[in-house]
Amino acid sequence: MTAVADRSLGPELVRTESIGEADVLVIGLTSADDGPVIAPADAFNDVLDADTRAALVAALRAVGAKGKPEELTRIPAPAGLGVDSVLAVGLGPAEKVDAEQIRKSAGVAGRALTGTGTAVTTLSGLDLGAAAEGFYLGAYQFTAFRSAKSAPKPGDQPVGRVEFLVPDAGFGVEALFRAQAVAEAVATARDFVNTPPNALFPAEFANRAAELAKAAGLQVEILDENELETQGYGGILGVGKGSSRPPRLIRITYAGGDKKVALIGKGITFDTGGISIKPAANMENMTSDMGGAAAVIATTLLAARLSLPVTVTATVPMAENMPSATAQRPGDVLVQYGGTTVEVLNTDAEGRLILADAIVRAGEDEPDYIIDVATLTGAQMVALGTRTPGVMGTDAFRDRVARISQGVGENAWAMPLPTELRADLNSKIADLANVAAHRWGGMLSAALFLKEFVPESVQWAHLDVAGPAYNTGGPFGYIGKGGTGVPVRTLIATLEDIAAE
Ligand code: BES
Ligand code: MN
Ligand code: ZN
Repeated sequence: MTAVADRSLGPELVRTESIGEADVLVIGLTSADDGPVIAPADAFNDVLDADTRAALVAALRAVGAKGKPEELTRIPAPAGLGVDSVLAVGLGPAEKVDAEQIRKSAGVAGRALTGTGTAVTTLSGLDLGAAAEGFYLGAYQFTAFRSAKSAPKPGDQPVGRVEFLVPDAGFGVEALFRAQAVAEAVATARDFVNTPPNALFPAEFANRAAELAKAAGLQVEILDENELETQGYGGILGVGKGSSRPPRLIRITYAGGDKKVALIGKGITFDTGGISIKPAANMENMTSDMGGAAAVIATTLLAARLSLPVTVTATVPMAENMPSATAQRPGDVLVQYGGTTVEVLNTDAEGRLILADAIVRAGEDEPDYIIDVATLTGAQMVALGTRTPGVMGTDAFRDRVARISQGVGENAWAMPLPTELRADLNSKIADLANVAAHRWGGMLSAALFLKEFVPESVQWAHLDVAGPAYNTGGPFGYIGKGGTGVPVRTLIATLEDIAAE
């Protein structure tokens, strides 16, 4: 079961100028007061002539299609079109159609195409890249742990191939290349998150990440528990010492340019809470507590694949937070990498302890930017719900990352770091306590803890993706159950923005 290294690829994505051998044609429908309208209206007229469009709209109207966002309507194809059926997917009102709507609509279409061999689509006439990302991500399945007893039968497998209609052979080469690379990186992050915690423990996670990085020609360094000890990584060691499976710190570097960006991701392969143990209900979801690590590893590989002119170093602490006779206790004081002492009042606030070590280590490289990503607090979901990441940090960079995230549909929202909350992290005996004695502003308080370890004058953004990294509900848009891959697309878009400075 090598789900991550050998991820069975999703649909093949290709450009085409004709309908060819496809089984299904996927078209977009916007909603107007007098009924659904095929979108784009003015493209691919040699494939869809005026009579065919009129016949399609009449048939779709007859079965109740309105063109509402993500509405799906399937009809037999009009004679002569060359496909068996037409799948119409709603886009909502024409004036509101943006890249994210196209991505979502393509996502539900991609999911509805399960069991189909080849689909061809005109959604590429609206936004080829967004459509390709949507189809690929909507079709994503994680089946590495199904035996023949429950493995998907051919009719339950993802669509094999999606063809994107283009006006000419040269159109959209770059856009499709980027979309495929981005979608595969999101799928890589999802695979890591979806791999169960018995199979993905720190050493295994580090090895799998190293394998992918080496295959991409990147520099890799792994510190094992002995090296962590020698070098004084007290936060990672303190969190990891309750587990029989020792912690790791992996560093992956893609050297692409002068600007240096440090990415840091929380890699708790399972979070029981430790001695401050969590309730049993829903504890299984804590397999997702390495979602930040998965995202920054996938993004670093993606930056290399896209040859971005920036240098990216991922610094990823990995540990399993377990209760045991060797576990750290509430009240223990540990020494973070760099010397800061921390009183561990709650062993379930472990993410900030491993991140603090990683942030200090990343700071030694003197990066221009530090972005850390973590499934850090339940308070993130209390504040913003399960789909909206919180972003905190230095003001200008925080706002920039939030804006970029909103532009790619991951929708991170800027949150403050109120100075008055900092004093609540004072400890009676150490430099800092790892939690405040109250629960107010829990997401902000966690970020204020991290801020203590961020070098002055570095632009910093901290993304709390506790809810957004893992979907415990049903599928929506291009997101299925389980790992979502958030915030890979925010991170890559931020790196592209920095590269373009
Ligand atoms: N991994 C959790 C945060 C989390 C909760 C992520 C739910 C995803 C879903 C984190 O380590 C944690 O336990 N945080 C505590 C902090 C508290 C002890 C200050 C929390 O949020 O309860
Ligand atoms: Mn925890
Ligand atoms: Zn955690």
